[in-house]
Amino acid sequence: MYLKSVTLLREQGADSSAYPFSIPAIRSLSTLNFQSNVTFLVGENGSGKSTLLEGIAYQCEFNTAGGSRNNLYEVDAAQSALGEALRLSWLPKISNGFFLRAETFYHFASHIDQHPESWRHYGGRSLHEQSHGEAFLSLFQHRFGKKAIYLLDEPEAALSPARQLAFMRVIKDLERDAQFIIATHSPILLGYPGAQILDFDSLPVRETDYEQTLHYVVTRRFLENRKSVLHELFKD
Ligand SMILES: Nc1ncnc2c1ncn2[C@@H]1O[C@H](COP(=O)(O)OP(=O)(O)O)[C@@H](O)[C@H]1O
Ligand SMILES: [Mg+2]
Repeated sequence: MYLKSVTLLREQGADSSAYPFSIPAIRSLSTLNFQSNVTFLVGENGSGKSTLLEGIAYQCEFNTAGGSRNNLYEVDAAQSALGEALRLSWLPKISNGFFLRAETFYHFASHIDQHPESWRHYGGRSLHEQSHGEAFLSLFQHRFGKKAIYLLDEPEAALSPARQLAFMRVIKDLERDAQFIIATHSPILLGYPGAQILDFDSLPVRETDYEQTLHYVVTRRFLENRKSVLHELFKD
């Protein structure tokens, strides 16, 4: 693990009715301790996950439009309303890594999909799902080395369920030397063994268990009782 904690510095007179301090999870933030090489941020839409991830990316000096220090492909990209108010605590400090937004992840996945010849380049074998996983893995490894911190915002947006599983394999292969902080709604990704899950619907943000997340509870209920859930949903 590299990033040990994130602390919000309280500015006297910061406007709590204006973004980002208007977000309850951000307003009530003091220090978040990262306890695992893989941390997930969960919570309702608008609960502040992307805002925090962006702030961390800003402090890492990653391009906050998504990318690494070398990927300055967006103008106006270094925007982060929260970034200046965060202090990161490292042991040891590293500067390698990447910030991926959902949109960027989607383009990244499509790019790989459309260039099967590049799969071979990255050691991919065929069209079957595992080769996507390998392509992802190789890209992470080739471009950023092993000691890195990856900040990923809803990576599942670009990945089918089978590829989410393949992606978990990618994380497994890297997490010995890399740290992941991932905002996600995926009940699959959240099942990653030993991950720390931080719930943005709790104030202040706190750790929760996989089985306690709404993502798990709602998805499980739907899959096990689809008819009755739909009946309840559509009545009246
Ligand atoms: N640049 C911005 N300016 C003002 N409000 C914003 C900005 N970005 C996000 N918000 C608001 O802050 C809240 C949290 O957003 P966000 O961090 O994207 O949530 P999440 O990623 O958990 O869905 C939302 O209500 C959103 O509309
Ligand atoms: Mg978000």
